[in-house]
Amino acid sequence: MAILSFLLTVFFLVGLSSRFQLGNSQLVFHDQEVVEAIGKELSVPGWGVMNTTDFCSWHGVICSSNSTMVERLDLSGFRLQGNVTLISELKGLKWLDLSNNNFQGSIPFAFGKLAELQYLDLSFNKFGNSIPSELGKLRSLKALNLSKNWLTGAIPDELEGLKNLQDFQIFTNNLNGSIPMWIGNLTSLKVFAAYENEFSGVVPVNLGLYSDLSLLNLHSNQLEGTIPESICANGNLEFLVLTQNKLTGKIPDSIGNCKRLSSIRIGNNKLIGGIPKSIGNISSLTYFEADSNSLSGEIVTEFAKCSNLTLLNLASNEFNGTIPPEFGQLNSLQELIVSGNNLYGEIPTSVLKCKNLNKLDLSNNKFNGTIPADICNTSRLQYLLLGENSIRGEIPHEIGNCVKLLELEMGSNELTGSIPPEIGHMKNLQISLNLSHNRLHGKLPQDLGKLDKLVSLDVSDNQLSGNIPPALKGMQSLIEVDFSSNQFTGPIPTFAPFQKSPNSSFLGNKDLCGDPLSGGCGDLNGYDHSVYGHKVSYRIVLAVIGSGLAVFVCVTVVVLLFMMREKQEKAAKEAAGNTIDEISSKPVILAGNVFVDNLKQAIDFDAVVKAVMKDSNKICVGTFSTVYKADMPSGMILSVKKLKSMDQTIIHHQSKMIRELEKLSKLVHNNLARPIGFGIYEDVVLLLHEYYANGTLTQYLHNSSQKPEYKPDWPTRLAIATGVAEGLAFLHHVAIIHLDISSGNVLLDSNFRPLVSEVEISRLLDPSRGTASISAVAGSFGYIPPEYAYTMQVTAPGNVYSYGVVLLEILTTRLPVDEAFGEGIDLVKWVHGASARGETPEQILDAKLSTISFSWRKEMLAALKVALLCTDMTPAKRPKMKKVVEMLQEITES
Ligand SMILES: *[C@@H]1O[C@H](CO)[C@@H](O)[C@H](O)[C@H]1NC(C)=O
Ligand SMILES: *[C@@H]1O[C@H](CO)[C@@H](O)[C@H](O)[C@H]1NC(C)=O
Ligand SMILES: *[C@@H]1O[C@H](CO)[C@@H](O)[C@H](O)[C@H]1NC(C)=O
Ligand SMILES: *[C@@H]1O[C@H](CO)[C@@H](O)[C@H](O)[C@H]1NC(C)=O
Ligand SMILES: *[C@@H]1O[C@H](CO)[C@@H](O)[C@H](O)[C@H]1NC(C)=O
Ligand SMILES: *[C@@H]1O[C@H](CO)[C@@H](O)[C@H](O)[C@H]1NC(C)=O
Ligand SMILES: *[C@@H]1O[C@H](CO)[C@@H](O)[C@H](O)[C@H]1NC(C)=O
Ligand SMILES: *[C@@H]1O[C@H](CO)[C@@H](O)[C@H](O)[C@H]1NC(C)=O
Ligand SMILES: *[C@@H]1O[C@H](CO)[C@@H](O)[C@H](O)[C@H]1NC(C)=O
Repeated sequence: MAILSFLLTVFFLVGLSSRFQLGNSQLVFHDQEVVEAIGKELSVPGWGVMNTTDFCSWHGVICSSNSTMVERLDLSGFRLQGNVTLISELKGLKWLDLSNNNFQGSIPFAFGKLAELQYLDLSFNKFGNSIPSELGKLRSLKALNLSKNWLTGAIPDELEGLKNLQDFQIFTNNLNGSIPMWIGNLTSLKVFAAYENEFSGVVPVNLGLYSDLSLLNLHSNQLEGTIPESICANGNLEFLVLTQNKLTGKIPDSIGNCKRLSSIRIGNNKLIGGIPKSIGNISSLTYFEADSNSLSGEIVTEFAKCSNLTLLNLASNEFNGTIPPEFGQLNSLQELIVSGNNLYGEIPTSVLKCKNLNKLDLSNNKFNGTIPADICNTSRLQYLLLGENSIRGEIPHEIGNCVKLLELEMGSNELTGSIPPEIGHMKNLQISLNLSHNRLHGKLPQDLGKLDKLVSLDVSDNQLSGNIPPALKGMQSLIEVDFSSNQFTGPIPTFAPFQKSPNSSFLGNKDLCGDPLSGGCGDLNGYDHSVYGHKVSYRIVLAVIGSGLAVFVCVTVVVLLFMMREKQEKAAKEAAGNTIDEISSKPVILAGNVFVDNLKQAIDFDAVVKAVMKDSNKICVGTFSTVYKADMPSGMILSVKKLKSMDQTIIHHQSKMIRELEKLSKLVHNNLARPIGFGIYEDVVLLLHEYYANGTLTQYLHNSSQKPEYKPDWPTRLAIATGVAEGLAFLHHVAIIHLDISSGNVLLDSNFRPLVSEVEISRLLDPSRGTASISAVAGSFGYIPPEYAYTMQVTAPGNVYSYGVVLLEILTTRLPVDEAFGEGIDLVKWVHGASARGETPEQILDAKLSTISFSWRKEMLAALKVALLCTDMTPAKRPKMKKVVEMLQEITES
């Protein structure tokens, strides 16, 4: 039927085009008929029912000023499918945006007929096959965006005709061949993003020579050869990303001509030689990431001239010498990562004075100084990684000043003396405390027991003696411990994390006894039977693999990307009706655990798997997962999140994932939904959460408030807003950036307490890993911060923006994206534009609430101010999440 009507339309159009020449009245007729036919073919929501006599007012359609021809067509974000070839009949089209839909098949070569077209955006679809060479006829084209599709083959040479092209984006496809030389001859080109493809060959040596290139992003390809000198010929480059290729040769001296460069990312290549001293001329430099190359020589002092430098990552190279004391001038420096080189000398005390320093990673070098007493006097350090060096002397008592530290790694050094009791002052220590493989002696301080957030403690291979203090039971969050190869004596305290550890965690001590060592405390030879019992678990494997969190983060991102891809493929398969196999055979759980002890009895994995097999249990389909409701035989109700990946990657890195989940399950906060367990079968991962009866904040705001029985309740909404802010402030406090803040990811319990969910999908803050591969994990439509388009980085200020959108939703009861706002206007723009439109705040706020009482109205206006601050276009102007909480609490209290 659809095909028939489509064919009729086509015949009709063929008939039309013969009338096309007759006159202007026919032109009106023509574009109207085409638009109607497009509406039918693609089932554009709203188009069918709208006033057909004025098609120029339909959503997404903009006509020429005399209302005869369609000039702009914006169908982005409708999840449309169907044949888009008809659009090529809109001969006057200048601007076409079909991004963020489900279009498949080849890009129609007929688009080459759109002679007036200046802007073509087909990104975030499923267009496949090769790029049609006919697009080369679009001589007026200024912006071409084909990113995030399934395109294959090479860039056709015919595109050389696009002489006016300024913005060329083709990232995340399967394009191959080499990057053609003629791209360097496009004199208007400003932005070229071709990352995450399979391009090989060299970076064209004329790129940037004839145009004012400002962004070049080619990461994650197979590019060889050198970084061409030409990229800085015009000095307009702002972003240079070449990470993860096979580039060789030296960093060109001419890099210093790029005075406007803010970001240089050239890690994971095969670059050699030193860093050119001209780097000091790039005064705007913010990020410099060149890890995992073969760069050598000394770290040049010239970096100290880059006063805005925020991240310097030179890890895994062959640098030698010392860290220049001049780095102490870098007031903006947040991360200095130089692990895996041949650096030596003292720990650079001047750098510790950089007032924004958050992470100092000197691990795996040859540093041979002592730990300075003023190590934490001025800094905001959260990560201090000094492992695998030759650091001597004692751990100073002043280590207790490092109250902000989340992770302290000092393993494999030459430290002597005893562990100072002040170590117990580092109350925020959470990720790991590693003092292993040193020459520490004396007793374990009782005060260690105060570290109640710490997950991993390793003091193995020292000369520590005495009992393991029972006070260590205060370490409520412990998962991994290692006391092995010391001189400890006496019974191992009865404490679940100890008894659950493999006996290898206690072996090699003098007189240690009790579980998990075989033999009771009566049998003091017990430790001799070094039998690996059934308790040998993935933890041992993990200990061997090492605790590289950064590796995990990287892996998580990769895993997530695979998951997303698989999700799409799965969706395609399901559409083809291919799910019968899955239902007929019930798979077996390969691994699973419940982290919360008192829920272990209540959860039945068979019932979980059964629930997930039934489509009727589906609650919602999110960005990364599908959520099911699962009734346990015990009466408990679970919400089960199913992540799917057919890739071996996830199986391979399973243990790391489990570890991270387990850590997250310890992340206790009133406003965070944490995983209570997981199950893995075949290649499917199931995350178990509590089931929250009141659904999501989206449902609360947009569904229930439409119902007749709805009672306006501003205090509840304000409490929800404050709770969400508190949950996010906590996440930021432990350096976790949420990747997908939206009202759909806020759950409400039976008392309408909000719980921020999807935290698992977030990674630990690590801008050093911030290649744009994270771009696929941008978040939900309408909540994505504007700067994301340039930085491709999800940041804390970006989170604040997304939160601001949620707050606006709460205040206005409007969706973040709504056609009622008008062309290209989202909720944020609509609210910010209110005064310019001469509207009062009352016209913005949900009148059902703001008109109830004077005090509600006053509070809503105050909250609106907060939301406006949060959604400021400039990331630096947005308040910190913690500040947001304070402002909202003030509103509640006043
Ligand atoms: C359709 O639009 C035309 C012109 O804008 C207007 O005159 C007419 O009343 C509208 N018809 C309906 C049913 O809304
Ligand atoms: C309307 O405008 C378009 C482009 O702006 C032009 O090609 C066409 O001739 C105009 N038609 C009339 C009737 O003025
Ligand atoms: C779309 O329609 C055109 C005719 O308008 C036809 O030539 C083409 O094959 C169709 N494409 C697909 C994928 O069906
Ligand atoms: C595609 O590229 C254009 C030009 O750079 C840009 O304006 C647009 O936002 C991009 N589309 C998406 C969906 O990111
Ligand atoms: C590019 O990929 C296509 C398949 O998509 C393949 O046939 C072709 O050989 C590849 N070309 C190169 C240079 O790798
Ligand atoms: C690019 O331009 C240069 C100089 O104008 C010219 O010599 C070269 O042939 C052009 N290359 C291509 C591939 O068009
Ligand atoms: C450093 O950053 C600040 C704030 O973003 C900016 O105003 C200033 O111009 C930058 N300095 C240089 C030298 O680029
Ligand atoms: C440091 O590295 C440079 C370049 O590789 C080398 O010439 C020099 O001898 C090295 N210095 C030391 C002390 O190893
Ligand atoms: C540290 O190592 C360097 C290079 O090997 C050496 O020159 C220096 O004397 C050492 N310093 C100390 C205090 O051992």
